[in-house]
Amino acid sequence: MSANFLFFISFGMILLERTSRYFFVSCLTEDQANLGSLVFVSALYRHGDRTPVTSYPTDPYNNVSYWPVGWGQLTNIGKCQHYELGQWLRQRYSKLIPEAYSPEDIYVRSTDVDRTLMSAASNLAGLYPPEGDQKWNRNIDWQPIPIHTVPEKMDEILAGKRPCAQYEAELLRVKTSPEVRRYNEEHADLYRYTSEQSGNKIHDAESLEFLYNTLFIEELYNFTLPNWTKKVFPEQMMSVASYSFTIPAKTKLLQRLKIGPLVGQVISHMMQKREGIMKPDYKLTVYSAHDTTVANFLMALGVFDPQSPPYTSLVLVELWKNDHEEFQVRVLYRNSTKFRPYNLAIPGCAAVCPLEKFADLLKPVIPVNWEKECKMGIFSDDFAFNSLAILALMVNCILAVLLVFSVVFGIAYWRKQKVSSGYCYHQLRQDID
Ligand SMILES: *[C@@H]1O[C@H](CO)[C@@H](O)[C@H](O)[C@H]1NC(C)=O
Ligand SMILES: *[C@@H]1O[C@H](CO)[C@@H](O)[C@H](O)[C@H]1NC(C)=O
Ligand SMILES: *[C@@H]1O[C@H](CO)[C@@H](O)[C@H](O)[C@H]1NC(C)=O
Ligand SMILES: *[C@@H]1O[C@H](CO)[C@@H](O)[C@H](O)[C@H]1NC(C)=O
Repeated sequence: MSANFLFFISFGMILLERTSRYFFVSCLTEDQANLGSLVFVSALYRHGDRTPVTSYPTDPYNNVSYWPVGWGQLTNIGKCQHYELGQWLRQRYSKLIPEAYSPEDIYVRSTDVDRTLMSAASNLAGLYPPEGDQKWNRNIDWQPIPIHTVPEKMDEILAGKRPCAQYEAELLRVKTSPEVRRYNEEHADLYRYTSEQSGNKIHDAESLEFLYNTLFIEELYNFTLPNWTKKVFPEQMMSVASYSFTIPAKTKLLQRLKIGPLVGQVISHMMQKREGIMKPDYKLTVYSAHDTTVANFLMALGVFDPQSPPYTSLVLVELWKNDHEEFQVRVLYRNSTKFRPYNLAIPGCAAVCPLEKFADLLKPVIPVNWEKECKMGIFSDDFAFNSLAILALMVNCILAVLLVFSVVFGIAYWRKQKVSSGYCYHQLRQDID
């Protein structure tokens, strides 16, 4: 009897504890939630304002004289934007990050691209203006801070450009899936019109995005766009360009192979922080990258609202620790200088998410062994037969048969020739001599 009573009491308490936790997580605003103090932040941002990466054949501004800094380079506007973002970070994290630079506090990694490296440098100028001892030149209000990088073709973590066969196969499958095919069919008129007018070959959302991006920048720079653009730019083209950002990380497998290594690193850093084993014991890790990196990252977290990530758009993953020793994660997206960052809740969790749960929910998009998982299905034990591999094998077989036939026929023909014109061989030898 008393045992029963105790059982009900404890059951009731557990229930109360569960529901109150649920209540506190999902209903209270962040200011009221027991976040405790901020212990670690991962920041991923896009570079600042740049010139077009490419032009198009009929572009009236298809001349580098219009773009004095060169194609795809960070402009002075872009440098200012990132300098200001650095100042914003300094203000927001004034309690977390000491004003004096220390290599023990911050680690910065950039893709190996001029505009992202320069953005990181501009950002750091705003984040760490030298003070006191760190002032090394009276005339320059700047100090050097290291920015780490890896050649793109070797970088599966940030650039996502390291070759991955399994990714390419899955991407092909997605691009030829009924959904994407239907989308492209629905926009076939737009593709045809823009192809004819621009001289570019536009056949899908991604190729249209390139053109859209060039037009977007030319308009931003107050260049008069050709008349043909009026029909489709910006509205029609913008919606397709936005959609294009969903393609590279559309499925769990694409996410896992393209951006999973970065998601994995962010989570593993937070785990190290919780265990107190991070060395050095960083407070902030910064990733300087591209619109696609930001989009892919948000796709993997399941919180991407399909819109081109603007210049300097910033994703923050904050780790908080409260006085119950609970570690909680908050994801913020700052895509405008006019508004406060958006607090994003990953599906299955609240905007303030326990670290353990956060890691559990994202487990499916984190590769266990990226290199192995990238190997093509047919020869690896991880993935079953794969239609593309079979297709490739069949094409190879046909080619092999054709090769054998042509060699056999070739030899037969050559023999016949040799018999009919006996001196041919000698002639050739003399020529060579
Ligand atoms: C680009 O512009 C410069 C300066 O106006 C001009 O000299 C050059 O011929 C142009 N190049 C092309 C390919 O049109
Ligand atoms: C374009 O024109 C607007 C309005 O005059 C101006 O504010 C803006 O700075 C110009 N943009 C560039 C890149 O020069
Ligand atoms: C573009 O359209 C305007 C009026 O709509 C016209 O005055 C101008 O000549 C046109 N430009 C070209 C290059 O066709
Ligand atoms: C910024 O992101 C939020 C959340 O995804 C979205 O609702 C908003 O439209 C975005 N704004 C811009 C300018 O991209």
